[in-house]
Amino acid sequence: MSRLVIVSNRVSLPRKGAQAGGLAVALRDALERLGGLWFGWSGEVAEDGAVPPPRAVTHGGITYVTTDLTRQDYEEFYNGFSNSTLWPLFHFRLGLLEVSRRSYEGYLRVNAAFAAQLAPMIRRDDVIWVHDYHLIPLGDELRRLGIANRMGFFLHTPFPVPELLVALPGHRRLVRALCAYDLVGFQTRDDVRAFLGYVGGEARGEIGEGGRFTAYGRSAKAAAYPIGIDTASFAALAAAQAASPETAGLIESLQGRKLILGVERLDYSKGLPHRFDAIECLLECHADLKRQFEFMQIAAPSREEVARYRALKRQLESAAGRINGRFSEFDWQPVRYINKGYDRATLAGFYRTATVGLVTPLRDGMNLVAKEYVAAQDPTDPGVLVLSRFAGSARELQSALIVNPFDADEVADALARALTMPAIERRSRWRAMMDVVEANTVETWRDAFLGDLAAGMVETDDFAHPDEEGLGLEPPPLPLAPGFQPPGYLR
Ligand code: UDP
Ligand code: G6P
Repeated sequence: MSRLVIVSNRVSLPRKGAQAGGLAVALRDALERLGGLWFGWSGEVAEDGAVPPPRAVTHGGITYVTTDLTRQDYEEFYNGFSNSTLWPLFHFRLGLLEVSRRSYEGYLRVNAAFAAQLAPMIRRDDVIWVHDYHLIPLGDELRRLGIANRMGFFLHTPFPVPELLVALPGHRRLVRALCAYDLVGFQTRDDVRAFLGYVGGEARGEIGEGGRFTAYGRSAKAAAYPIGIDTASFAALAAAQAASPETAGLIESLQGRKLILGVERLDYSKGLPHRFDAIECLLECHADLKRQFEFMQIAAPSREEVARYRALKRQLESAAGRINGRFSEFDWQPVRYINKGYDRATLAGFYRTATVGLVTPLRDGMNLVAKEYVAAQDPTDPGVLVLSRFAGSARELQSALIVNPFDADEVADALARALTMPAIERRSRWRAMMDVVEANTVETWRDAFLGDLAAGMVETDDFAHPDEEGLGLEPPPLPLAPGFQPPGYLR
């Protein structure tokens, strides 16, 4: 049976407590069922510049292997190229793009170092699945080291249209690196279209049927795999949390008022300043609803060493103070702004308590909070999801109130509608969304991706295969015979 090897920058180590971030949450759910190896950054920075050998720990069928970054790697690879260059670019924010040759070199260096550490651990039949923008060149680096295994890549963020991507020095190398994988997965069809647009245009590649493409001397496939959540267990968790002390405390503190809830990492892609404007607009234009609701924004700290994130934090503190100063009464204030993260169980109870789930990113790969909010609702008395059209999840959750997050008036009107929506409409909208969230779970996402990866082998003759004995590797697998059965982990 093939072993699954997952590689991602952020590894959700066992018993480490709350972990914000869709990728970590989704992958832990997936690997717990399959068993396998999960390789990535430990989250530690080796301040003295000496990185110890990778550390391995096995728990619940998963072997976690993590490695530290040096301070320079952390600055250049993580804060720099990953989060100050690729993250804004991939979220269509050219105005925030920071370009630095040093951080680009740091990005390539860390990817090469990760590949060198991982390669000796790879077994002949392993299926390798690399995740997200931090590690795009990793597959190419593994191929250079002679790893011919099936290898897939999944991008959790959006992929920018070619007109934006070409603003990145090194765009060609980045896309060439994506071509080293056998399967490149995206959240939505828009992302696939953007990627193939680059391949067929800038890269002068050939686009075939069903997302197949040939570029830079290699053939592979690109397709959309919208990520889901572990719906049944999240719904059960939310039902159980309805009676938790935290949920009870929240309900009591609301004193019968309705809750509008926002939950995210404190990130500029999430549209939080725009959202605060919409709340202000709601208070101005729908004065009859004043005192009937409270808006609670959970903004979990994120990437705090990146200047743009610190600036956003100050901006939100000021917006929350301004709105509360303007509209609060001695016994009521409209905004609760919370600058800390909560664990999943606590969030599940909070989602269930909220009359409105407010999810208004300016651009988001998928947005799992939207799906979690739906899964957490009480079927007899569900809340209403107000969802940005620019979240990948808006493609699936079409019965939400879909809004343009840049238009504060439109969002305010949707909030007013959500706060006063009759139960019969709430139930029918929720049912339609829950059907989708139940049909496309984290399991179906994983199985669809790994099934396609197992089904399509491609030639690897463009990549050098150095002497494998030197790396302690077994020979590459033989091409799959027609009628090949997916490996056991898919059954
Ligand atoms: N999350 C969490 N605690 C928090 C805030 C968020 O556990 O305080 C989780 C949330 O439940 C969701 C994930 O982090 O599973 C966020 O995923 P999403 O796709 O919405 O956004 P991302 O952070 O990946 O951009
Ligand atoms: C998003 C990204 C993930 C990342 C997460 C948390 O979900 O797609 O790759 O892990 O945000 O961000 P962080 O910088 O803390 O890993």
